Amino acid sequence: MELIKQNFAVNYTYPVLFINSLFEPGKNKFLKIFEELAIADGARFLIVVDSNVAKAQPALIPSIELFFRLHPFNLLASPVLIDGGEVCKNSLSYTESIWQLINKYGVDRHAYLMAIGGGALLDVAGFAASVAHRGIRHIRVPTTVLSQNDSGVGVKNGINYFGKKNFLGCFATPFAVINDSAFLNTLSNRDFRSGIAEAIKVALIKDADFFNYLETNAEALNKRQPAATMYMIKRCAELHLQHIASADPFEQGNSRPLDYGHWSAHKLEQLSNFNVLHGEAVAIGMCLDAVYAFKMGILSSADMHRIINLVKQLGFKIYNKHLDDKDAVQNEVLNGLDEFREHLGGQLTIMLLTTIGIGTEVNCMDNSVLMESITYLKQAN
Ligand SMILES: NC(=O)c1ccc[n+]([C@@H]2O[C@H](COP(=O)([O-])OP(=O)(O)OC[C@H]3O[C@@H](n4cnc5c(N)ncnc54)[C@H](O)[C@@H]3O)[C@@H](O)[C@H]2O)c1
Ligand SMILES: [Zn+2]
Repeated sequence: MELIKQNFAVNYTYPVLFINSLFEPGKNKFLKIFEELAIADGARFLIVVDSNVAKAQPALIPSIELFFRLHPFNLLASPVLIDGGEVCKNSLSYTESIWQLINKYGVDRHAYLMAIGGGALLDVAGFAASVAHRGIRHIRVPTTVLSQNDSGVGVKNGINYFGKKNFLGCFATPFAVINDSAFLNTLSNRDFRSGIAEAIKVALIKDADFFNYLETNAEALNKRQPAATMYMIKRCAELHLQHIASADPFEQGNSRPLDYGHWSAHKLEQLSNFNVLHGEAVAIGMCLDAVYAFKMGILSSADMHRIINLVKQLGFKIYNKHLDDKDAVQNEVLNGLDEFREHLGGQLTIMLLTTIGIGTEVNCMDNSVLMESITYLKQAN
């Protein structure tokens, strides 16, 4: 046997910028960001925009076009609208439409695909960019709480396929992420709240102080107060970024701590035909795993109640009527554990909590205790 052992390391660096009002007249903030990112004169840009963002913020597209008219960068086409929300992840046609644009306008690996929108559109655009020409630079401009504090700052891109969440996708780092808090002004209360679920999640597995902060500031967050919102988004993004850099960025192992509460959440989203939002499903999933951990003697009753109380205080439901159908729960949700294992590859690994801020991993879940935990949530809702 002959063996050549190949070994190299690639260092990934990308900036995540926090700013307010990118297009504030007279402030040239967008230009300063281009300078910060060392984007060369003549650089070519294709921009896709979440249709709901364009509708809610009608000044956005004229501002982008004006910026490119005034500065020496090349906008290859007027910003292209793509349907926002989960719909764009549920059909390959949206990804294909971006590939068509990349092909039509000759976007190559020295050009940029900028995507402005919610987590769903960013997942699609990041996936389209990452596989076209084996990877075009993509810049994410997240416009929801969830995409600014979690999905938009990480390395995962993907779409749903075969009716399964994120079945097609890839790990690819963005060229840069630009978090502009002004986008959040037009977000619905429901979508705003949904994103806070990811902050609770990351606090639960990594940072008890941040959990305390969320408890203390729950009312401020419900009122969408800017200071509390900005702190919550920045701390949540920071914890996600630290985790990605320090642990297993491309998820080669079995462990997925950032997916606390997610195994059942993904199934609940599907069961509800995506009428339950990702964050709403995660809120229920986190409570389910907290009750389960309590019933298994891993988590204290006091901690379980603190988790449920915070989730409720922030306006989430801890139960959903789709969980009433016992057969569907058995077939779709509990069997979802198997799908989760398949998605991870290898051994089933579920993150549970031993206390707030500290997780532990288990390799099997007891179905009857899970069913009891679901009943508990129904009664406590
Ligand atoms: N890649 C990852 O690591 C990762 C992590 C977590 C979640 N996700 C994915 O993110 C998606 C959810 O993202 P989301 O919560 O941002 O929801 P979303 O993208 O579905 O956006 C919610 C809704 O708000 C609209 N919208 C977006 N920004 C707006 C704004 N500023 N003003 C008005 N309307 C606006 C959208 O068009 C959509 O209708 C899910 O598909 C989930 O699987 C991905
Ligand atoms: Zn999530």
